[in-house]
Amino acid sequence: MTDKFIPLAVPNFSGNELEYVKKAVKEAWVSTGGAEIQKLEEITAKYLNVEMAAAVQSGTAGLHLAMLQAGIKPEDEVIVPTLTFIAAVNPVKYCFAQPIFMDCNDYLCLDVNKVREFCENECKFIDGKLINKKSNRHIKAVAAVHVFGNMVQMKPLMELAKEFNLKVIEDATEALGTYEKSNGKHAGTIGDFGVYSFNGNKIITTGGGGMVVAKNLSDIKHIKYLSTQAKDDVLYFVHNEIGYNYRMTNLQAALGLAQFEQLEKFVEAKNNNYKKYTENGIKLLPFDNSLRSNKWFYSFECKNSNERDELIKFLQERKIQARPIWKLIHTLKPYENCQTYKIEKAIYYYDKIVNIPCSTNLTEEDILRVAQTLEEFCSCKI
Ligand SMILES: Cc1ncc(COP(=O)(O)O)c(C=O)c1O
Repeated sequence: MTDKFIPLAVPNFSGNELEYVKKAVKEAWVSTGGAEIQKLEEITAKYLNVEMAAAVQSGTAGLHLAMLQAGIKPEDEVIVPTLTFIAAVNPVKYCFAQPIFMDCNDYLCLDVNKVREFCENECKFIDGKLINKKSNRHIKAVAAVHVFGNMVQMKPLMELAKEFNLKVIEDATEALGTYEKSNGKHAGTIGDFGVYSFNGNKIITTGGGGMVVAKNLSDIKHIKYLSTQAKDDVLYFVHNEIGYNYRMTNLQAALGLAQFEQLEKFVEAKNNNYKKYTENGIKLLPFDNSLRSNKWFYSFECKNSNERDELIKFLQERKIQARPIWKLIHTLKPYENCQTYKIEKAIYYYDKIVNIPCSTNLTEEDILRVAQTLEEFCSCKI
């Protein structure tokens, strides 16, 4: 067995990436103009079965635009999960609004039952507005983050949102390729807005980049307009709103087109890797069976935070990269004074989870080595 370094999650450039990027360079379309951007928008929209998609520079930029379009204004409040990457929450602050932190369920996604309990018991619904009794502020939206390729329970969430007049922003940055088996609906296409990320560790990458979709055509059109500096006249440079330089570049899109050709192959590889770990005796946290999941990231559960840290070190010493799940956002400095509601499971999982290598280009030998190293660690612990 070799002892080469096995990284956690790296891109897989085994398709037409170089050819398409070269073409964009040769044709000198490298910035926010160029045909590849629109092509990537069109194939993404077709794949997701939506009318239109807007390509942006990152998932974070996409989430910011979605929050703006959802009408999040200073002093509004947005319900968010605490167990997520900070980029899912920061856009709330970019809008000068406040997050309220919620717990997760056993699939690591927002606990919709607790969100309902919070809305019913801790808020009042007056004149079509959900008002937080504690802060007296208007709660306008929920950020539904689909963690690691699982999905938030969208049916009860959409019912809740309808009842309390909330916008639903799906953070599907980790869930491109995941859909509900019963109806084929893709993560990101059920709420008012859906945002995907093409960062280097995602199922497909454009280096950095993202895509936004929306339930209403007028919303996604306006998001595209805002992402391109809100330009109303290209010749005379007329801008009637404050816009952003958030549009994806043609270079990124060229890379994305090559990656998109392989998306289903990558989903299959992620599913096969997960299966192989399991067949080699490694018990990982499950993915929701009602989903065709992209199985983006794998979670190994330790007994406690000491064992978690020991395992990460043990793997590192054997040239296998692993990491704990994100530090809970409500415990981080910029958010430590924000409101939280009955956070229990997120603490449980934060203490115990170790993410193990999950790249689409892992070999059988890599998986066997990771599995055997995990077993070696566990047998020392008995
Ligand atoms: C849950 C979540 N939200 C938001 C983002 C931000 O996406 P990006 O890195 O493309 O800005 C990421 C990934 O990086 C993420 O994992």
